[in-house]
Amino acid sequence: MTTRSELEAVPTPTLPGAASEAQAEALARRKDHHLDVCLDEDVGSLVASGLDAYSLEYDALPELDLDEVDLSVTVFGRRLAAPIVVGAMTGGTSRAGELNRRLARAAQQAGVAMALGSQRPMIVDPAATGSYRVRDVAPELPLLFGNVGAVQLNYGVDADAIRRALEAVGADALNVHLNALQEAIQPEGDTRFSGLAEKLEAFIPVIGVPVLAKEVGAGISGRAAAKLSRLPFAGIECSGVGGTSWARVESHRAPSGSIQAEIGRRLAGFGVPTATSIRNCRAAFGERLVVASGGVRTGMDVAVALALGADLVALARPLLEAAEDSEASCVRALETLLHELRVIAFCAGAKDLRALRQSRLLGRGGAPVRLDLPSTP
Ligand SMILES: Cc1cc2nc3c(=O)[nH]c(=O)nc-3n(C[C@H](O)[C@H](O)[C@H](O)COP(=O)(O)O)c2cc1C
Repeated sequence: MTTRSELEAVPTPTLPGAASEAQAEALARRKDHHLDVCLDEDVGSLVASGLDAYSLEYDALPELDLDEVDLSVTVFGRRLAAPIVVGAMTGGTSRAGELNRRLARAAQQAGVAMALGSQRPMIVDPAATGSYRVRDVAPELPLLFGNVGAVQLNYGVDADAIRRALEAVGADALNVHLNALQEAIQPEGDTRFSGLAEKLEAFIPVIGVPVLAKEVGAGISGRAAAKLSRLPFAGIECSGVGGTSWARVESHRAPSGSIQAEIGRRLAGFGVPTATSIRNCRAAFGERLVVASGGVRTGMDVAVALALGADLVALARPLLEAAEDSEASCVRALETLLHELRVIAFCAGAKDLRALRQSRLLGRGGAPVRLDLPSTP
């Protein structure tokens, strides 16, 4: 595991072309340290996702066969067997590369999408590119998202560098992550978020693939959803409060006893819970793609997220834990989730994804919940 004294010595790269070897190594060390913290420490949010406040109405006479249930969906022209994404996590080191390959092979086997972690390490140091290359081991992977932090547009990363990074890995779409809370707690955080909306507006149309806005676990408020919906994003991943807390991850990484360690712990529930975040994104993004994430752990969480307005649902940390164990564990985790979702659809009388998304939602105590959502694709 990376030690605190190594972290304290980490300089922040400023310009991609100007990154020294030491800076690239520091960035890679940070990526491995994130993996250690997420696997070994308690990094859960202090506030629930809100998904467990709902369930789907059970139908004792569904009038269809379990085998008939088809949860496939087409996104950006790619067909997925189910509306699931292996969430954005890692890359940049040999360890991260092995995890990415395990995740990709498992996603391919399950027929679901995969998102790469931030590609900044390979933008800073092209030698890290191999750790993001998963197409050679999973050529049938239906949909691959690349990833970059929006704030990097204020730190010298430009559209050309990002386009090259996407091409190098064969990404079909790009997640641009928004992680203000994480950066503010991170010991080496990049916190200059001014002027980003204008930069994103110019950047999105020239990138060549659909671009999604993405939080990392602090969620999207109604106001943020409205601001983001005015930009030419193809969709949004709401990543709300209720799962992995990046304030808490960074508090574990900050020097013991530091102010950052203290406030990272205190702010581990700050943000918008996932259930609310999904609804905010759906209301603002109309017909565009909405991906739910943040504390999604079970097939019922997935079903509820879909019924609340999501098109796709992503899970991150649970699949990291499975992939750390083995590729077989990762396949098992995805197959269990998919089968659970099919059983729920069957028992809700939903033969396809459209019907599942229109299933009746029940609140705590079993009372039906009415949602005033715009029609979704
Ligand atoms: C180890 C790890 C690394 C992550 N790195 C990234 C990243 O590079 N870019 C990003 O957009 N999100 C990243 N995330 C955030 C996830 O994609 C997701 O939004 C968040 O963890 C909430 O989902 P969860 O509760 O299922 O973990 C990472 C998550 C984990 C667990």
